[in-house]
Amino acid sequence: MLIAVLNGPNLNLLGTREPEIYGRQTLAELEKEVRAEAGRLGVDLEWKQTNHEGEFVELVQGLRGRVDGALVNAGAFTHTSLAIRDAFLAVSVPFVEVHLSNIFAREPERRHSRLADLALGVMAGFGPEGYRLGLQALVSRLRGR
Ligand code: DQA
Repeated sequence: MLIAVLNGPNLNLLGTREPEIYGRQTLAELEKEVRAEAGRLGVDLEWKQTNHEGEFVELVQGLRGRVDGALVNAGAFTHTSLAIRDAFLAVSVPFVEVHLSNIFAREPERRHSRLADLALGVMAGFGPEGYRLGLQALVSRLRGR
């Protein structure tokens, strides 16, 4: 089973970016943890990050027929991007949406996700742990449990 993890804008700055909200763990450290979890679950993992909306759209388009599912933190694009929503509608790849922070407890403009109704589920507010939990939930759903 192959799972893609897609990270959106500014997530490359994890560790130094608003640590009171996003914590002190870097994206590379998070990737290491998630890869270890993938190993425990016996799945292959592909890890991407981009700051560009068009590139994110292309990453989503490239999932079709190639990966079994995706774990997606689209960052601020979550709240704004119809193009990324359309890309997920086009590929119909099962995905779990993940956010480090609890977007539903933040500013009003962050409380709406343009992807959430397309996702199998949403993990928000558990920090880096949410990626591991989201991966577990995704894999268990894909395995039909
Ligand atoms: C985020 C929440 C978004 O609102 C924000 O723009 C991000 C990170 C999170 O993981 O909590 O970049 O997706």
